[in-house]
Amino acid sequence: MTELVIPGGGGPVTGRLRVPGDKSISHRALLLAALAEGTSRLRGVSSGRDVARTRDAVVACGASVQGALGTEVEMAMSGGRGRLQEPAHVIDVGNSGTAIRLLAGWCASFPWLSVLQGDASIAHRPMGRVAQPLRSMGATVDGRDDGRLPPLVIRGGDLVGIDYRLPVPSAQVKSAVLLAGLAADGATTVREDVPTRAHTEEMLIQCGADVTVGDGVVTVRPSQLAPFDLAVPADPSQAAYWIVAACTVPGSDVVLEDVYVGPARAAFLDVLLRMGADIFLEAEDDVRHTADIRARFGPLQATDVGGTEVPGLIDEIPVLAVAAARATGVTTFADAGELRVKESDRVASVVAALRSVGVVAEERPDGLVVSGREGRPLAGGAADSCGDHRVAMAMAVAGLDATGPTVIAGWEAVETSYPGFEEDLYRCVS
Ligand code: S3P
Repeated sequence: MTELVIPGGGGPVTGRLRVPGDKSISHRALLLAALAEGTSRLRGVSSGRDVARTRDAVVACGASVQGALGTEVEMAMSGGRGRLQEPAHVIDVGNSGTAIRLLAGWCASFPWLSVLQGDASIAHRPMGRVAQPLRSMGATVDGRDDGRLPPLVIRGGDLVGIDYRLPVPSAQVKSAVLLAGLAADGATTVREDVPTRAHTEEMLIQCGADVTVGDGVVTVRPSQLAPFDLAVPADPSQAAYWIVAACTVPGSDVVLEDVYVGPARAAFLDVLLRMGADIFLEAEDDVRHTADIRARFGPLQATDVGGTEVPGLIDEIPVLAVAAARATGVTTFADAGELRVKESDRVASVVAALRSVGVVAEERPDGLVVSGREGRPLAGGAADSCGDHRVAMAMAVAGLDATGPTVIAGWEAVETSYPGFEEDLYRCVS
């Protein structure tokens, strides 16, 4: 295990930064490029370990990939459904919940046996939510605890379309069903009561799939996909660390470039604006759903986070909790029980990490309550990432101008999504 020591007492966060390519878009780009009949060109694909697992999975199924993942690199994918084949080995998704759930649907669309496994964290993440609809489509899905837990063993092919209402607001489940629907007989419809990130349907449209998108309803029919060119926008979930850093460290003024701000991804900005943060969007592009985001230091007020906004900011709650710790008043995060089944139990891990740096915070079954320190910096201390990249990075932000050092154990978790976080830290923090 490695640890990162943030010395504390740091100065303002300044400059312009381009964080890594969006992780959710990157996974989908690789899966769809592998299915497309021809060569797709992808630029700025996330260089995190999670996305590398999806790259390795499509390569194991016969897709060819030239070039490395990363911000400046072009990557040509050449796949096509007919060229792909049954993977000879178990597919290891590492720490990636998105990879295992999206691959479950993607693999189910082929008449193959696929075995999907991951690390110790993945072994505890709920898979019944994908197993159940894929079984309804005709796939055989097995796994530990009757398919509720990985490893998953999937025999796909001969699927039929279904009309499916999501029982949990999950873009991963929606995407798994839609990816399976690309090769199912008839139409596959997914209905959602609460909007979740829309990358799969946006990208299916870009690939010329037979897909219709309505108000909370997406329908896909069997389709051949056309190759596509994509410059992956910067990841809002990674931008959120620097935005909160700028909002909380006195004197800060930072611009995050080319950030995806499309449906169900930018709700953390609404929360910060509600808290009184000094944030505005520049260079907005309505086609790519991107903007440069400028954030400056200013006083923050507590707020209540909950209800239908939660799926649109679920990954940003660890760092929003750090913003809450600096605000005036008590901030609540409710309706966020999904936090308990992320890379760690994020209710428990965020509350424990905040407490270890002097913040008063409490667990709730479906969220957490954080008492703000009225702008005062945190104390520093020894925090544990619990193997969770988002907890690790949130605590790095918490430590920037703390009165003492913050030692983050399990720092290596950051590799899953943001390998260059430390370099960006040295670049932007004086
Ligand atoms: C993701 C969806 C969300 C999110 C995860 C990425 C995606 O998970 O938390 O980090 O790329 O579809 P759920 O679908 O489980 O809510």
